[in-house]
Amino acid sequence: MSLDIQDLFRRARVLPVVTIDSVSDAVPLAEALLAGGLRAIEVTLRTPTGLAGIEAIAAKVPNMVVGAGTVLSPADLRAVAAAGAQFALSPGSTPELLAVAKTSPIPFVPGVASASEVMAVLAAGLTTMKLFPAAILGGPAWLKALNGPLGQAMFCPTGGVGLDNARTYLAEPNVLCVGGTWIAPSDLIGAKDWPAITARAAAAVSALSG
Ligand code: 3PG
Repeated sequence: MSLDIQDLFRRARVLPVVTIDSVSDAVPLAEALLAGGLRAIEVTLRTPTGLAGIEAIAAKVPNMVVGAGTVLSPADLRAVAAAGAQFALSPGSTPELLAVAKTSPIPFVPGVASASEVMAVLAAGLTTMKLFPAAILGGPAWLKALNGPLGQAMFCPTGGVGLDNARTYLAEPNVLCVGGTWIAPSDLIGAKDWPAITARAAAAVSALSG
């Protein structure tokens, strides 16, 4: 039985989006986020080490729910599931990905940027989506507008979300959680500044919980 993605997102409130350049950073990064109170992470496939990073976190940090981001093809989806990812997200929603989502062993969260894409995702049987790039598309106002005609769609907005505006997104009834790179940006990961990442995670948890 795979996890309930809406329940996971609702509890998480904030999903740190991370890009790992060195696989040895994966476990200390996940532990730093966990120490700050975050229980779920999106590791992107933007670097060749993303997949190995997912594998390392899945194997060594059992309390962290590890998801894969930047899943662009059915082959990516199969690879991240095999590496131990418990869920997967994409910046978009191609027909190929929506077709395999039905038989995916892990929940797949496609990205959307328009009403038509939301409708295509709903028609494929999925109700959880990533709104990307959220701020450029209109932010909370976009979500408010879509909630009228397409109220069954639930979102994790990412792209331009930060501590300053996350609460505004989370106040929308169709928002489950927000995602973003601000908690563990690449420069802090590169510097192996784990205490700073823990502090950012803790700040997000305390500002955004409840
Ligand atoms: C993502 O992949 O979800 C986004 O690139 C995150 O965007 P941000 O850097 O604006 O948080």
